[in-house]
Amino acid sequence: MSIPYAIQANNIAKTVTSGHQTLTILEALDLAVAVGERLAIVGTSGSGKSSLLALLAGLDVPSAGTITLLGRDLAGLDEDARAAWRAGRVGFVFQSFQLLDGLSAQENVMLALELAGTARPAARERAATLLADVGLTARAGHTPRQLSGGEQQRVALARAFACQPDLLFADEPTGNLDRATGEQVIERLFAMNTAHGTTLVLVTHDDTLAARCDRCLRLVDGRLVADHA
Ligand SMILES: Nc1ncnc2c1ncn2[C@@H]1O[C@H](COP(=O)(O)OP(=O)(O)OP(=O)(O)O)[C@@H](O)[C@H]1O
Ligand SMILES: [Mg+2]
Repeated sequence: MSIPYAIQANNIAKTVTSGHQTLTILEALDLAVAVGERLAIVGTSGSGKSSLLALLAGLDVPSAGTITLLGRDLAGLDEDARAAWRAGRVGFVFQSFQLLDGLSAQENVMLALELAGTARPAARERAATLLADVGLTARAGHTPRQLSGGEQQRVALARAFACQPDLLFADEPTGNLDRATGEQVIERLFAMNTAHGTTLVLVTHDDTLAARCDRCLRLVDGRLVADHA
């Protein structure tokens, strides 16, 4: 069965309460992302981009509306069931990287592979290759605290690439990188799209990256609008 859309989000709202205040982050938001599409999402700091990615990936639940991720309606799935649906299908590069501190760079990448069912010796080998691809061979044995921000980001990217996901979410994937490393990462993202048809949903402030995508949407007042910048 082929799925026409990687993501369908209908009438999404997200409100959060802190103290007595209720804050509306997203409101009446609709989005359809085609399989294989490369979508950039832009918007000012605090406009809700990271919150939106968390909802689309099923890491968080909307206050209202429905989200279908790779053909599966996320409503009614609990956290474990959503994680099981994501495993091996969805990769995520967080703004905060979310690497495990007790593990080396190589072990962080290996863990993703092992969770997706790869045996340890093969996972070790593949993790080494993935880290080499992002220029981190010499740092493979370092823990996240022993790495710079940009290096941690590259480990997070290697981990996201590990399972060749059908859909990759990345929150500012080039945000902490110098121009040359950023360009390598962009090449790697688009190569994955070309080779495997991986759908890319990228939050970015990087005009070069946004321009290479099929479509660029801007988050304004809780909704997505076409970006003509
Ligand atoms: N759990 C929460 N409780 C209260 N407010 C929250 C919560 N999560 C996010 N917010 C608020 O929602 C807004 C959107 O946050 P979000 O992190 O999605 O923005 P962003 O567009 O990713 O910003 P940036 O470009 O700085 O990363 C912000 O004003 C933030 O303070
Ligand atoms: Mg953010």
